[in-house]
Amino acid sequence: MESTSPNYLKPLCFIFFFFLQSTTASSPPLLPKEALPTKSGYLPVNPTTGSAIFYTFYEAQNPISPLSQTPLLIWLQGGPGCSSMIGNFFELGPWRVNFNKQPSEPLALEPNSGSWNRIFGLLFLDNPIGTGFSIASTPQEIPRDQFGVSKHLFAAITNFVGLDHMFKSRPIYITGESYAGKYIPAIGYYILKRNAELSKSRRVNLAGVAIGDGLTDPVIQVATHAVNAYFSGLINERQKHELEELQLEAVKLTEAGNWSEATNGRSRVLQRLQNMTGLATLYDYTKNVPYKSSLVEDLLRHEEVKKALGVSNVSIVFEECSDLVGEVLHEDVMKSVKYMVEFLVRKSKVLLYQGQFDLRDGVVSTEAWMKTMKWEGMEKFLLADRKVWKLSGETAGYVQKWGSMSHVVVSGAGHLLPADQPLRAQAMIEDWVLDEGFFANVQEENLTSICY
Ligand SMILES: *[C@@H]1O[C@H](CO)[C@@H](O)[C@H](O)[C@H]1NC(C)=O
Ligand SMILES: *[C@@H]1O[C@H](CO)[C@@H](O)[C@H](O)[C@H]1NC(C)=O
Ligand SMILES: *[C@@H]1O[C@H](CO)[C@@H](O)[C@H](O)[C@H]1NC(C)=O
Ligand SMILES: *[C@@H]1O[C@H](CO)[C@@H](O)[C@H](O)[C@H]1NC(C)=O
Repeated sequence: MESTSPNYLKPLCFIFFFFLQSTTASSPPLLPKEALPTKSGYLPVNPTTGSAIFYTFYEAQNPISPLSQTPLLIWLQGGPGCSSMIGNFFELGPWRVNFNKQPSEPLALEPNSGSWNRIFGLLFLDNPIGTGFSIASTPQEIPRDQFGVSKHLFAAITNFVGLDHMFKSRPIYITGESYAGKYIPAIGYYILKRNAELSKSRRVNLAGVAIGDGLTDPVIQVATHAVNAYFSGLINERQKHELEELQLEAVKLTEAGNWSEATNGRSRVLQRLQNMTGLATLYDYTKNVPYKSSLVEDLLRHEEVKKALGVSNVSIVFEECSDLVGEVLHEDVMKSVKYMVEFLVRKSKVLLYQGQFDLRDGVVSTEAWMKTMKWEGMEKFLLADRKVWKLSGETAGYVQKWGSMSHVVVSGAGHLLPADQPLRAQAMIEDWVLDEGFFANVQEENLTSICY
């Protein structure tokens, strides 16, 4: 080629080449080597169809114990249909997008000192299939309910554990946010039921579940928005009554089992609340602008990033949330999984945590269903002190614990809690997993005496 070029083109080519080189040298890769996951790729959920869950795994930076004993945290995003890459690159992963940047500054990743993989392994799953980079071979294969979601998650988790003999013995904690308040109890429940039928070597080593700003018992939760907003000074009494009427409609549709309309009923409540308050976002009533999680979408639309993460088809256009998955799970939204949490609190341990400023699935909404749980320990839990939790001299939040049940309110945070308060979120999850600080089992000896 070069030999056939006319001579007068040569200097021009040289200059052009030089220019290209200097730009690549001055703009570092969007995903620096240090930010690469330890492992990433696909976990099949159905080998015959090819449907698979996309994952990124980050090994613990400073494992607290031999790797074979170091806890593994699994993170599930909500939606339904939102990618766990939001959790990864916006909230609790080791590298986050620079969401405090000026609009003129380029998009970049920054190390997150509040990462949840400081001392634990951390696995993000794009769940259910059809979400994020996960593959749904056909739309019909996307699960329509929590049982379907759990079957796929169980396959993905067992396939992940099978990738490395060191994973087998590690205690697993399922965590996540928002609509994952449905997925987390569902997969926890499914694991415990499956474990009971499996030989010891094939069981999943579930140690606990943690739900952040979750939707778990929607029929109770949907009825809390009016009082929450009223007593926060965001609406007046007349607006409160109007909202209560909309809530009652959603409750009635739920009780009638009119699932699709019930979901629409809940949307109407939230839309009306949004309209009345004029807030930038119901996810955090203190914010003047919504969360900039769309930066994750910008990041993951770059071909170099998709390649580095092992995305199988780089033509896939990454979306924060899948409308298709949202539609498929539309009739599932108002169905409660509270009974699964009741099962888990007996057989495992449960943490419910919320950001203080969340108006969608926040503190009032969670406490409303939590206190109705059928569990022998609930009375003692409700009588337990709500302790003021300090971190670095500041009030970080409030912790209430009894036996296997913990509830945390994190100060200065909204719905995407680890994005707002990374160090508080990290301290909380580490202490809870390790039974340390306010989560220490000081009352253990009394647990047995009141169990009946
Ligand atoms: C569900 O509710 C809507 C709105 O109230 C109503 O038109 C529809 O007939 C209901 N469907 C069923 C199956 O009850
Ligand atoms: C609320 O809805 C009304 C009527 O649809 C509209 O005129 C108004 O601009 C909305 N307000 C806000 C803050 O969205
Ligand atoms: C890759 O993704 C694009 C965009 O979604 C799609 O059109 C194409 O068929 C996919 N290719 C393969 C081999 O799956
Ligand atoms: C156990 O319960 C008894 C009576 O309620 C109480 O006096 C005692 O301090 C408790 N012990 C612990 C370790 O909490």
